[in-house]
Amino acid sequence: MSADLSTVFTGIKFQNPFLLASAPPTESESNIMRAFEAGWGGVVTKTIGLHPVVNVAGPKTKFLRSNPETGTLSMNKGRGGVLQSSWNWELISDKPLDWWVPRLGRIKKAFPDRVLICSIMAGSGSDKELKAWQTLAKACQEQGADGLELNLSCPHMDRPDMGSNIGKDQAQCSFVTQVVKEVAKIPVWAKLTPASADMTVEAGAVFRGGADAVVSSNTFPSIPLLDPDSLEFEMNVDGLVSSGGLGGPSILPLSLANMVRMTQAYPDKAFSGIGGISDFNHALNYFLLGCGTVQVCTAAMLDHAVGPNVIKQLIAGMQRFLEKNASKGFKSLEDFRGLRRERVVSHSKIRRPEDSDYAGGYDAEGYADGELAGTRKS
Ligand SMILES: Cc1cc2nc3c(=O)[nH]c(=O)nc-3n(C[C@H](O)[C@H](O)[C@H](O)COP(=O)(O)O)c2cc1C
Repeated sequence: MSADLSTVFTGIKFQNPFLLASAPPTESESNIMRAFEAGWGGVVTKTIGLHPVVNVAGPKTKFLRSNPETGTLSMNKGRGGVLQSSWNWELISDKPLDWWVPRLGRIKKAFPDRVLICSIMAGSGSDKELKAWQTLAKACQEQGADGLELNLSCPHMDRPDMGSNIGKDQAQCSFVTQVVKEVAKIPVWAKLTPASADMTVEAGAVFRGGADAVVSSNTFPSIPLLDPDSLEFEMNVDGLVSSGGLGGPSILPLSLANMVRMTQAYPDKAFSGIGGISDFNHALNYFLLGCGTVQVCTAAMLDHAVGPNVIKQLIAGMQRFLEKNASKGFKSLEDFRGLRRERVVSHSKIRRPEDSDYAGGYDAEGYADGELAGTRKS
């Protein structure tokens, strides 16, 4: 009997816990149909908004590779070497809502048993903007979307009331979530930004606003490297760059660190993990730290645009993992989800050699006390 990969996340039944993240792999009806044919349990559409979108006059995404043979770390010096990261400054979908609406309906009709999550985004600075969130939410759910993902994390917005600028502000992201929840009849996930000092603050805020799950994370704020010969940024338009988003292998440990802080702070809440996943072993990190689903972008972009081989590997990897660990009682994701969440502790809780104590730097170990603090005893 083959292992059971199905799971229920925020009340939605998934054939497997693997989704394509909101990005180019999910920017069109044909891509999404191909993704479902390839076996993805769900997709999150490229973010849909009401504002006109115009992207930069040049490439929107590039891939940084490290090549030990040539000694280069570059986006432009060939496809040899190892993938380090993706970098993008692509805005949300440049297709309007009325382009998306009939397509969402057709996708859901063609694949009723696969999960279609619609990513939506508007502003928060006026009643009109807040109404736009509700317009988007209602239009998507009327077409049969299974859930909504609020893009509170797009890193490329100049407006202070949009994208990651909302996601960095606990009052704004809580309020926007509440506004969508007023009209939503389907689960609402909030996708947060890692451009925050402490994501547990915004996670708490969106949960207070009624979010059914936190998704973490979007790309990390970053800029392309400078070419040592031309002294130009490896990606630029007329010599200029702007802060964009880093994804792919290099963000896996960074994203995990944010994730475990949030799953520890809210152990009973639902989390969807994103960042640097290209095979099951990567996804397993998110599951063991408490996530109920995971999402993939960069790896899928580099695999026939929708990741047919990536999803095959994720499914085969999870099947092998369940079979290998059947004796531990692992029959489904719920049996190992969160198993290592509590293993991340404060530094002073890590064992010191030979029974010596360490109090996290709070006592005067090795130093004189009182007015001599800071001066060595001997
Ligand atoms: C070219 C590109 C476009 C993206 N567009 C969106 C978007 O429209 N909405 C969104 O929520 N995230 C967007 N993302 C972020 C991804 O969904 C994902 O959070 C991020 O790439 C990290 O995952 P990864 O390491 O698997 O790439 C985009 C990423 C890339 C590379």
